[in-house]
This record gives sequence, C-alpha cells and structure tokens, in this order.
Amino acid sequence: MRVTVVGTGYVGLVSGSCLAELGHSVTCVDVDAGKIERLKLGIIPIYEPGLEELVKRNVAHGRLRFTTSYEAAIPGSEVISIAVGTPSAEDGSVDMRYVISAAEAIGKYLTGYAVIATKSTVPVGTSELIEQTVRAGTSQEFDVVSNPETLREGRAVYDFLHPSRVIIGSSSLRASDVMVHLFAYLDCPKVVTDPRSAELTKYAANAFLATKISFINEIAALSELVGADVDAVAKGIGLDPRIGKDFLRAGLGWGGSCFPKDVRALAKLGESVSEPLPIVNAAIRTNAMTRMRVVDRLERALGPLMGKTVAVLGIAFKDNTDDTRESAAVDILKELHRRGAVVRAYDPVAHVASADMGFDFVQLPDPFSAAQDAHAVVIATEWDEFRTLDLPRLKSVMAGTLLFDARNLLTPEHATAVGFTYLRVGRKT
Ligand SMILES: NC(=O)c1ccc[n+]([C@@H]2O[C@H](COP(=O)([O-])OP(=O)(O)OC[C@H]3O[C@@H](n4cnc5c(N)ncnc54)[C@H](O)[C@@H]3O)[C@@H](O)[C@H]2O)c1
Repeated sequence: MRVTVVGTGYVGLVSGSCLAELGHSVTCVDVDAGKIERLKLGIIPIYEPGLEELVKRNVAHGRLRFTTSYEAAIPGSEVISIAVGTPSAEDGSVDMRYVISAAEAIGKYLTGYAVIATKSTVPVGTSELIEQTVRAGTSQEFDVVSNPETLREGRAVYDFLHPSRVIIGSSSLRASDVMVHLFAYLDCPKVVTDPRSAELTKYAANAFLATKISFINEIAALSELVGADVDAVAKGIGLDPRIGKDFLRAGLGWGGSCFPKDVRALAKLGESVSEPLPIVNAAIRTNAMTRMRVVDRLERALGPLMGKTVAVLGIAFKDNTDDTRESAAVDILKELHRRGAVVRAYDPVAHVASADMGFDFVQLPDPFSAAQDAHAVVIATEWDEFRTLDLPRLKSVMAGTLLFDARNLLTPEHATAVGFTYLRVGRKT
C-alpha cells in the first residue's frame, strides 16, 4: 500500500520504517528540513536499537523515502498516518497545533480517497476535529481513524513489529478494512472500535501503567520506613496473575515524552467534564514525590548539599534511549543544583544542553570521570552498563562513599563489600 507518515520523530520514523519493512511503500514527511536532510544522508536523528539498519535497508530497497514536501507526499496515498508531537500546553491540556497544521496540509493535497490515521496521542474527539480541518481544504473523499501507537522508546522497532494489539477507532467500515489490511502481517488482535473509545484507550493504558508504577513507589516509601524490601514485595504480588509482574519496579517513577503529558491530559479531560479522577491525580502527585524523596534521602545521608559534589549516572528517562523529556534524572540534577550541590553527570547516549538545564551543566564521557572527587554517586537511569559497573574503581576516584542506587540495579551485598554506604529505593538504610 502507499503510505505517508506525517511527522518523522520517534513514532513517525519507527512506524514509517517498520511499515516499509512490512512491504508498504512509505514516504515520511516532516517540517524539520534539517532532520529530513540528515535522514536522506542516512543519519538517524534518534538513538533506537535496530532503527538505523531498518531505515538503511528500506531506503536501499526503494520502499522508504523522506521529504519536507506535502505536495510530493500526499497525492496518491492510501493511508496517511499522523505522528506529529502532541506536547502538554501550559495548563496540562494538549497542545494541538501540530496536529491541526498537519491536517490542514493534508487537506490541501488530497487527490483521492485516503484513510487519515492518527497515531499521535490525542484528546477524545480529535478524529472529528481532524475531519473538519481536512474537510475545509478538500472536496475529496476521506475517512479519519484513530490508530494510537503503543510502542516503547528503547524497544520501539521490536514493539512496532510485535504489538500486543492494534487499536483501530473508526466509524467507517471501508476505513477499518484498509487499516486491517495495512497491519495484516502483524500477528496480533486488531481491536476495531469507535474513534472516541480508541482515543481514550491510549490515555487509559498510559494512566494505568503510570498508576501501577506510582503504587509500587508508594509501597517503596512505606517499605523504607517499616523495614521491608519493596523488591521482595513486588515479586510477591507480581506473581499473582491478576496483578502481573510488569511495571512493579520501584525507582524514580515515570518520565519521558508520554506518561507525564498523557496522564496530565487525562486529568485535564476529567476536569473538563467535572469528573475529578482522584486515582489519576494521585498517581501524578506520588510521581513528583518519588523524585524529591530520593534527593531528600541523599541530603539526610550526606548532610547539607551546599558545596557537595554529586555525580549522577544516567540522564535519559530510561535505558536504551537518548530521550530526556521529563526525565527523573534531569529533575534530580536540577534539584541537587538548586540545593547548592555541584553536579556532574554521565549518560551513554543522552545529552542535555546547559541552556535547557538552566545552569552550567557538566557532562563527562564515562562514569569514572563523572564520579571523580564526588561525595556521592546517584544511579538515575537503568542502563545495563550500570549493573556491571566496576564498583571498586568507582569508589577509588570518589571523595566520599555514598552510592544511591535509585533504580535498584546493584546487589546490596556487593556494594557494601566494596565499602560503599549503599542506599536503594524501598529498603531501610
Ligand atoms: N515517543 C513515544 O514513545 C510515543 C509512543 C506512543 C505514542 N506517542 C505519541 O506519538 C506522537 C509523536 O511522538 P514522538 O515522540 O514521535 O514526537 P517527536 O517530537 O519525536 O516527533 C514529532 C515530529 O513531528 C514533526 N512535525 C511537527 N509538526 C509537523 C507538521 N505539521 N508536519 C510534519 N511534521 C511535523 C516534528 O518536526 C517532529 O519531527 C505524540 O502524540 C506522542 O504522544 C509517542
């Protein structure tokens, strides 16, 4: 099928190259000319395992191309997938300007029937909004369906090609048939429903997962006070199939480009219809407290942070990605700086500019130079390489002995045997 993907970010680039891998002829269009130029040169703008080979293979086979021109991309497309960003607006609602401008541009260049499928995470009712916006620019036939994306950054290629389900929210039989055909090679249930239910499904899924993480972090805080070990508790409850073991890792809470903005958007949606959604709002509050609790515990262990040097290992919001949007590690770095600590950081792939941090931010090329003369080290992202850190070497370069494993990656016995004062989440100091 001829497919155009609008927006070539984490979701657009991954879904475009995966759809090409499934045999479709895909054009990715983006307004960012620099990004498209780099992609044409084979430079992949994001870190995502397996993506570079996938892009190169499909470009070489002529199934994948990149452009900034809607005029070149839209005519003749059978499916147009919208994958532009939907960031939070100031008040926590969704900033829809990119979706609307994409819909306007699509309307301008439609040449025949197409299914416009929204992959972006969008508020309930957006399918109707897109329909009106496109309709204003064209007399061609088209249908709008909601097709929320469920891939996870860091595992995006695998997730796209092996989804647990594909959600298709459509009020047209013709359009849902086209979508089922588009994903025919994916071996998973295709859940066909109405557009509003599909749109809400995405928010409900993210809010549920975020709530599960907030819940275990609340139990972690309790464990620290009552002398239990949250990892043992998580294992004990996770083996119950009604609960399940996923998303029960205590740590720094949820971050990234999706959960925070999507949970806020759901809370905002509730507010807009006078339904307070107390569980969703509590998950947000617990998440904010989880990050600050780590800094508070560090301060209690280290004494006043003013003038102390703290190395933070990990800047990305999770492993296997360079995405730092709403990263807990970034919040911790900012809070440490605010309390007067001298902060240094290391991440295998992620970078944050000093301008975005709001202070002169020092990022080192390896964990040991980051930890040089540090009074404490905080592990803030669950990168695999931190699980096998050379702890004696780490300790030898530090000025202090405090190691705060805020992702519970290390074996406590090993860390203490090396001579660290070792803190982890959900276990009494
Ligand atoms: N990142 C994830 O893990 C993930 C997972 C599921 C769903 N989503 C949702 O998918 C959407 C995209 O997320 P992302 O992380 O890929 O965003 P992103 O910021 O990485 O990419 C968005 C891209 O859209 C482009 N763009 C903006 N306006 C445009 C326009 N009018 N025409 C063409 N291109 C335009 C931008 O230049 C950018 O390249 C969001 O709604 C997000 O909530 C993201």
